[in-house]
Amino acid sequence: DIYLNGLLTEQTPALTTDLHALADTARARMSPAAYGYVAGGAGSGRTMAANLESLERRRIVPRMLRDVGTRSLARTVLGTPMPAPVLLAPIGVQSIIHPQGELAVARAAAELGVPVVHSTASSYDMEEVAEAAGDGPRWYQLYWPKDDDVCISLLERAARAGYTALVVTLDTWLLGWRPTDLDRAYLPFLQRIGIANYLSDPAFRAGLAKPVEEAPLDAVVHWAGMFADPTKTWQRLSFLRDHWSGPIVLKGIQHPDDARRARDSGMDGVVVSNHGGRQLDGAIGSLEALAPVVEAVGDETSVLFDSGVRTGSDVLKALALGAEAVLLGRPYVYGLGAGGQAGVSHVLRCLLAELDLSLALSGHRDVDELGPELLSGP
Ligand code: FNR
Repeated sequence: DIYLNGLLTEQTPALTTDLHALADTARARMSPAAYGYVAGGAGSGRTMAANLESLERRRIVPRMLRDVGTRSLARTVLGTPMPAPVLLAPIGVQSIIHPQGELAVARAAAELGVPVVHSTASSYDMEEVAEAAGDGPRWYQLYWPKDDDVCISLLERAARAGYTALVVTLDTWLLGWRPTDLDRAYLPFLQRIGIANYLSDPAFRAGLAKPVEEAPLDAVVHWAGMFADPTKTWQRLSFLRDHWSGPIVLKGIQHPDDARRARDSGMDGVVVSNHGGRQLDGAIGSLEALAPVVEAVGDETSVLFDSGVRTGSDVLKALALGAEAVLLGRPYVYGLGAGGQAGVSHVLRCLLAELDLSLALSGHRDVDELGPELLSGP
């Protein structure tokens, strides 16, 4: 499209096709606090940097003179057909980035058939986002509330609204040490936005000491406290299994033994992720964790990957190491900040186009052909 437009009208695309550089455009259009929240990581930022380095270290060894004239990126993951093995990672409170937030993202993704993973901390009701997504594929991400009634209510609402798989985030029982947000005391502001999804939830309202209308700040404090539960252990997973009939995926796995544990607990998949380096500073780059997890459980469960993916060739590397699909995080948020729905659409189109090109240039015609031999060195 871009080449043809250039040929016909000498138009260049409105936004840069360099997804690294798009962050700068977004930064200029976002408030410093919102940009800091998105771009920031835990502690010194070492793990956030390690995510990029771990992808940088592995390089592709391309193969020549193979017929790559027609190619296929399509894949079905946990029953969800997708045009490429790429989903949008769950990202909370998107209305701080653009007023249309999750609605704009859902519309852009649905246009291309790319699945969205809807965050528990969304700034719009999950039903509104489902409506915006229309026929578009969608999964639901759960921050697991302490209150079982609220949890069941969320799961029932998600199933009714057409979210087909459940992604349970395990690395955020406590929020990481994030200096950019701590220095600005930004968290309370985010909590006021994150509660939006709950104000209409009957189980949440029933758990409040006073009605939301009478004591809105109490409701926010109650909401924020609901997710801080570092006492949870593996045994509790059966509760989710009992209340969710579709596939369940555990997000935040880094150790192969935890992946085995997930499999043994009847889970359908894992996301190898360190939350984009926002939780435990000093943790390994997420790509380092991928191959050992694939080796441990890849034959029996779906292994997905995120943290640090910025380009189509990054996606190719994760697929080569055995990821069934990849979740894209910050880049689509920068698209949202730079250009709303059109910006998200731009990012997705660039990423998928670059993935298709990388597949061809590496000498492959189908994502199913990729394997670790495509990459150099350990
Ligand atoms: C996140 N992430 C996240 N994860 C989750 O399970 N629920 C959530 O609400 C959020 N919210 C959130 C907000 C922001 C601003 C960011 C950057 C990230 C983590 C996200 O799903 C994903 O794991 C990372 O974004 C992947 O890393 P990259 O691609 O951003 O480096």
